[in-house]
Amino acid sequence: MTSTPAIPRHIAIVMDGNGRWAKARHRPRSFGHNAGRKAVREVVEGCLREGVEALTLFAFSSENWQRPEEEVGALMTLFLRALDKETDELHAQGVRLRFVGDLAAFDAPLRERMQAAMARTGGNVKLHLNVAVNYGGRWDIAQAARQAAAAVARGELQAEAIDEATLAARMCLADLPPLDLFIRTGGECRLSNFLLWQAAYAELHFTDTLWPDFDQACLHRAIEDYGRRDRRYGRTGEQLAATRTQG
Ligand code: IPE
Ligand code: IPE
Ligand code: MG
Repeated sequence: MTSTPAIPRHIAIVMDGNGRWAKARHRPRSFGHNAGRKAVREVVEGCLREGVEALTLFAFSSENWQRPEEEVGALMTLFLRALDKETDELHAQGVRLRFVGDLAAFDAPLRERMQAAMARTGGNVKLHLNVAVNYGGRWDIAQAARQAAAAVARGELQAEAIDEATLAARMCLADLPPLDLFIRTGGECRLSNFLLWQAAYAELHFTDTLWPDFDQACLHRAIEDYGRRDRRYGRTGEQLAATRTQG
C-alpha cells in the first residue's frame, strides 16, 4: 500500500526545549525563550511555503504560571515585544493572527495589543496563525461545556440533545480545518494539556530537536513523516486501500 503525499491542513506545535537550549549555553532560561522567536518565524515561513492552512503554537500553558515569577515576567515582556515587532511582517505576509486561551488572565496592555493584532490581521487568508496562551485542553473542554450549559439555560438547547458535535462546535479553533499533525519538540513524548479534544485523530510527531533549533527543514521532515502515515480512523488497512483505488 503506498501512501499518498499529503500536506497537513492544520499543524499544532508544542514549542518545548527553550530552557535546556539556554542551559547548554550557560545562559538564563529567558535567553532560550528569546531564541525561540526565530523558530516561530521559520515555521510560519515553512507553512506559507508548503501551503499549510492553519498553524497553532503552544506559547504559554495554563500550568506555566507555576514557573518562577521572574521567568513568567520575562515571557510576558517577550510576548509584548514580539507583538509589536512581528505583527507588521505577519500582516504583510497575509497571516491572520489569533490568540486562543483564557485571555482574561493577562494584564490590560497585553490584552489590548493582542486584540489589536487580531483585529488588524483579521481579513488575511494565507495562513491562520493561532497562538495558544494561558491555554489548557481541559479548560477548552470546560469552556465549551459552559457555553452549552448557558444555551440550555436560555432555552435554546435541550440537555438531551448535547452530543459530540455540540461540544466540537464550541471548542477553540472549531472554524478551522481539523488538526492533522501535532508536533512536539524537545524530546518529551506527552501532550501537556494542549488541544486534547482536537488531537483525538491527529498524527503525533515527536522530535528531540530543541525549539530554538527547529527550522524549515525540521518542519519539512515532520510533514514528510506525516505523509507516510496511514490514517485509518478505526477502519482496516484493506478498507483504506479500497477507498484509495476508488478515489
Ligand atoms: C517551552 O520551553 C517554552 C514554554 C513553556 C514557555 P521550556 O521553557 O519548557 O524549555 P525546557 O523544557 O525547560 O527545556
Ligand atoms: C508545554 O511545555 C507548554 C508550552 C510549550 C508552552 P512545558 O515544558 O510547560 O510542559 P511540561 O512541563 O514538560 O509538561
Ligand atoms: Mg518544557
